[in-house]
Amino acid sequence: MKIQFLGAAEGPNALNGATVAARLVNQDAVPADLEPVLAEGARRARFTGKAGQIFESFVDRGGKVVRVALAGLGEPSAKDRKSAIERAGAAVVAKYLTSGETALVLDVTGAGLSAEEAAGALLGAVLRSWRHDVYRTKLADDAKPSLAQIALVGAPDGTEAVWEIEQAIAQGVAFTRELVTEPANIIYPESFVERCKARMESSGLTIRVLDEKEMAELGMGSLLGVAQGSVKPARLLVMEWRGGEEGAKPVAFVGKGVCFDTGGISIKPAAGMEDMKWDMGGAGAVAGTMLALALRKARANIIGVCGLVENMPDGNAQRPGDVVTSLSGQTIEVINTDAEGRLVLCDALTWVQREYAPAKIVDLATLTGAIILSLSHEYAGLFSNNDDLAAALNAAGDASGERLWRMPMGPAYDKMIDSPIADMKNVGPRFGGSITAAQFLQRFIENDTPWAHLDIAGTVWTDKAGATWDKGATGFGVRLLDRFVRDTLEA
Ligand code: BES
Ligand code: MN
Ligand code: ZN
Repeated sequence: MKIQFLGAAEGPNALNGATVAARLVNQDAVPADLEPVLAEGARRARFTGKAGQIFESFVDRGGKVVRVALAGLGEPSAKDRKSAIERAGAAVVAKYLTSGETALVLDVTGAGLSAEEAAGALLGAVLRSWRHDVYRTKLADDAKPSLAQIALVGAPDGTEAVWEIEQAIAQGVAFTRELVTEPANIIYPESFVERCKARMESSGLTIRVLDEKEMAELGMGSLLGVAQGSVKPARLLVMEWRGGEEGAKPVAFVGKGVCFDTGGISIKPAAGMEDMKWDMGGAGAVAGTMLALALRKARANIIGVCGLVENMPDGNAQRPGDVVTSLSGQTIEVINTDAEGRLVLCDALTWVQREYAPAKIVDLATLTGAIILSLSHEYAGLFSNNDDLAAALNAAGDASGERLWRMPMGPAYDKMIDSPIADMKNVGPRFGGSITAAQFLQRFIENDTPWAHLDIAGTVWTDKAGATWDKGATGFGVRLLDRFVRDTLEA
């Protein structure tokens, strides 16, 4: 999407060659400078400017028929003002993306938006325009995206500078969605790494990759145990961004990158198994976040680590009952080969602590179906050993719209994963499955390093279009982590 900025001098009716003009309006404040037919039409259609509302018409402007829309921003004082503004920008794009119109004016004249808010409308618009059509060879012409250009009109001074930052976030979210959407025959550990290298070239990120031989030498028996049933070799992908003070300890983001999860020998039922192509959503979020942070040159030191494997049943696959030795030295009885995410993450967590001694760690994983039973698709589960970190993440979740709900942890849950033969087993009893998974991960956190685990199984993929996304990959995590970095490391 090409973005332009038109100065205030252009006025609310500036078209700049566009064939459709969308004006963002506050609730019960339909602008006085509208064509009378439009004002009357909006009134008759009961358009009041409520958040998410949209009204469309055609008007004659100097002998030219122009398609116009009014999109509601809701009340300026509303608590969810920021997301309503994004949603309004997104609603306009959702309406015109495949409409045949190619260029759109997004007009915020008179809406009283700050530079941040005007850039937010644009962010909503650009995020909503993302699609993945690479495998559709027979898309009808009238189903193809037509909209290629948006010109923002009437935004306050400084909006362009804010957009410079926000567009980096849009690119990060888009990259995460791309990785999550790609099927498992296209994105597997090696190609995940290659896709990141290609996208991150000249971004300023330093990329390191550990192959299976290196991981075996280090003793990452838990991660490699998951990978051993697949012909696709595992990788540990590390992305370093050093934009902060030299020598300052980094914050680490660690992602579960199970590029396909069949369950292994504890195989999953066939119905819906295709969803398990997005079992690398945590790794995807980490990669997209690192890209966004680099593109906007964040003033912080961040390490992104992705544990990349494929979980397959095979003659060489690990069996239920196998005991593996993790990088930490702790042994694990693998009761269920479908509880593989924690087996991958634990070695990635140990590795990043030994290699970088991070000040804080946040891991992201599509870890359990149980978190979807608990929270549905509205919140991701937040588990932490540190109240300050949990509060900061919760605040970043509220501010970014990628919301978190803190879940309990404690010794009573921890002992549920004690094993009669090894230091621990990889699953607990039937109940509290998301919590025992988090307890498992916590056993790999050293010296009480502030750590949080985000179970994002319910939020990386959606069956229905939402505020700023279509159905499919949401890109969940990028905006949350970016906001966390801004508010806790750069403030
Ligand atoms: N990747 C799944 C979790 C998942 C399930 C994500 C559904 C998204 C939708 C994970 O590896 C898994 O299989 N977890 C098991 C754990 C169980 C065996 C203890 C689960 O949740 O059923
Ligand atoms: Mn699994
Ligand atoms: Zn999984």
